[in-house]
Amino acid sequence: MSDEPATGDDFVPAPRVDAGWLVCRRVEPGDADVVYEAIAASMEHLRPWMAWVEGYTPEKARGFVERNVARPGGSGVPEVSYLACDRDGRLLGMFGLHARLGPGALELGYWVDVRHTRRGVATLGAAALTELALDTPGVEVVEIHHDRANRASGAVPARLGYQLVATVDREVETPGEEGVELQWRTNRETWPVGAGARLLDEARAATV
Ligand SMILES: CC(C)(COP(=O)(O)OP(=O)(O)OC[C@H]1O[C@@H](n2cnc3c(N)ncnc32)[C@H](O)[C@@H]1OP(=O)(O)O)[C@@H](O)C(=O)NCCC(=O)NCCS
Repeated sequence: MSDEPATGDDFVPAPRVDAGWLVCRRVEPGDADVVYEAIAASMEHLRPWMAWVEGYTPEKARGFVERNVARPGGSGVPEVSYLACDRDGRLLGMFGLHARLGPGALELGYWVDVRHTRRGVATLGAAALTELALDTPGVEVVEIHHDRANRASGAVPARLGYQLVATVDREVETPGEEGVELQWRTNRETWPVGAGARLLDEARAATV
């Protein structure tokens, strides 16, 4: 591979990825209201696992969108957020890629609007964002980290064929956590022959 390795704090993400009935696209100006509405409706669902939802306000949603659009497509970012939408553009959930694991690796995070859970949004969206991440110049590895008590979150990397590579004690940050973090990993070699790539193929074929 000819690409320079990622520095560990900046990468140039693609603007969107299509995955059949699901589309993930970067945050755009004007997204603040829909982001706020989804978080407000999902507050009790997110609170056990996501520290940042406490005291969430429309102003925080506006700040989040402003930070995301401050770096236009094509420029390097230390992290990036994607809206996962259906084909009608309805927001179903959100994903983030973060360069906080060191050179060549990105961490993938997600949450799904409580009104759209148990339909495969997290699984298919995580597959799409994994593919996008591994297509990013310099990125070799993608990891998903979650607290052991968050079984719904752990089902996602397990279904996509990520490998469980570490179990580490961590400070409890949210009411649902037990303080044991499971770390899952995939890479450029294993991803294309795994369950996640097959899921993406099937989803795309079903909507052609
Ligand atoms: C975790 C989360 C993202 C899963 O989203 P989702 O779109 O419902 O997940 P999927 O539909 O792709 O489900 C994948 C599998 O996870 C498991 N799962 C999902 N929700 C579950 C739940 N509430 N209880 C038990 N298992 C669950 C199931 O095995 C499910 O497959 P199935 O529905 O065919 O049985 C969502 O519940 C969420 O937003 N949780 C709060 C935020 C969060 O925890 N984010 C991750 C932080 S590390």
